[in-house]
Amino acid sequence: MVRLDLDKTGSLALFERAKKVLPGGVNSPVRAFEPYPFFAEKAYGSKIYSVDGASYIDYCMAYGPLIFGHSSEEVLDAIQEQLTKGTLYGTPTEKEVEFAELISKLIPSVEMLRLVNSGTEATMHAIRVARGLTRRKKIVKFEGCFHGSHDYVLVKAGSGAITFGVPISLGIPEDTSRNTIVLPYNNLGVLEDIAEHEGSDIAALIVEPVIGNTGLILPEEGYLKKMRKITSDYGILLIFDEIITGFRLALGGAQEYYDIKPDITTLGKILGGGFPMAAFGGRREIMQHVSPLGKVYQAGTFSGNPISVAAGYATLQNLNKNWNKIYPKLEKAGEEVKKALMDSVSDNHIEAQVNSIVSMFQIFFSPHLVTDYTKAKLSDIRMFHSYFQELLRHGIFVPPSQFETCFLSTAHTEEDLEDTIDAFDGALRNISKVG
Ligand SMILES: Cc1ncc(COP(=O)(O)O)c(C=O)c1O
Repeated sequence: MVRLDLDKTGSLALFERAKKVLPGGVNSPVRAFEPYPFFAEKAYGSKIYSVDGASYIDYCMAYGPLIFGHSSEEVLDAIQEQLTKGTLYGTPTEKEVEFAELISKLIPSVEMLRLVNSGTEATMHAIRVARGLTRRKKIVKFEGCFHGSHDYVLVKAGSGAITFGVPISLGIPEDTSRNTIVLPYNNLGVLEDIAEHEGSDIAALIVEPVIGNTGLILPEEGYLKKMRKITSDYGILLIFDEIITGFRLALGGAQEYYDIKPDITTLGKILGGGFPMAAFGGRREIMQHVSPLGKVYQAGTFSGNPISVAAGYATLQNLNKNWNKIYPKLEKAGEEVKKALMDSVSDNHIEAQVNSIVSMFQIFFSPHLVTDYTKAKLSDIRMFHSYFQELLRHGIFVPPSQFETCFLSTAHTEEDLEDTIDAFDGALRNISKVG
């Protein structure tokens, strides 16, 4: 039963308190939505429960890490075991080595890696390594790709940066952003052009192989392979930011799915099984430039902390053991949801597109196919907001922005999917009436 007597522990009251001590009442802008976010009390499997007594089937899944759903047993067991032995040592552990060996086995282009605490750290250091190695200044990124919130990449970024209309954050020195070349995604012509004219100054090209931060945008056929070729031709290091796609599109990530070998890979989200954990890695001769072996400096008090390592290792072991059941199951669920959404869009005469791949999906309220940032921005944001609110009323939680993507987990049951499909249909029917 949803509690409506907004007492001091209800979401509205907590939000009022939160706004006084946290900017916008949240600790990450993507969590803010109108009129106020629900505050979570607990979450198990496919469901998240609010402090107001409501429960939701969750497709936000903490923005991607929870491939086994909330409170997965393997992860809880692993961290509980680790907790009895200590939480932080400041010295290496055997588990870290086993974990790194497993990552490298699952993603063979990552011969050597460094564990860090967040995706932001991972991409920042990956770019620093590329610059250190090539002695070039510039980098290329794509409109709508989000690579974390550090200065090198926060230009025309996706996720909260589009949602809240911040194409370039205040506080980034012009000297820094000048070295970041931003190109439209899925456009080989501009990429070829920039490589030809500025290739010798470009250290790295960083890309989300599938963009999960502008809704969901897929690479056109052959696009990534050609990108690989162009970067190789000009000595530009190709960084695949697989912080979302790693272990999600396939056990070996987007690079396995599309059969492409990047020079450097960044990982996060699923890698930590719900705990702060990320990594950057690549070919041995590249990673040998990282301190203390080489002169590219990077360090972190909490890097490779035993709790995150235990959670991440348990997650990857489970994926490694059961991948041949997990990925087909996720793919089947993804197809089911996509088909249901498309049927419902058509039955309710709504102009919308549904993009999906394996266990990621998103709807765009637009008559145009969504293949890049510009097209994504043509979507009807008001309609998305109504859809989001309708879904909440139907007990479904999707990310609150048009410019995020939905995630399925192995914890979503057939019954959850049936309820979700009914909810999608009910939500789309209601918004189609309002027009
Ligand atoms: C593709 C991608 N790269 C990097 C990041 C930054 O990761 P973190 O939030 O752990 O700093 C994100 C976060 O959503 C992401 O989606």
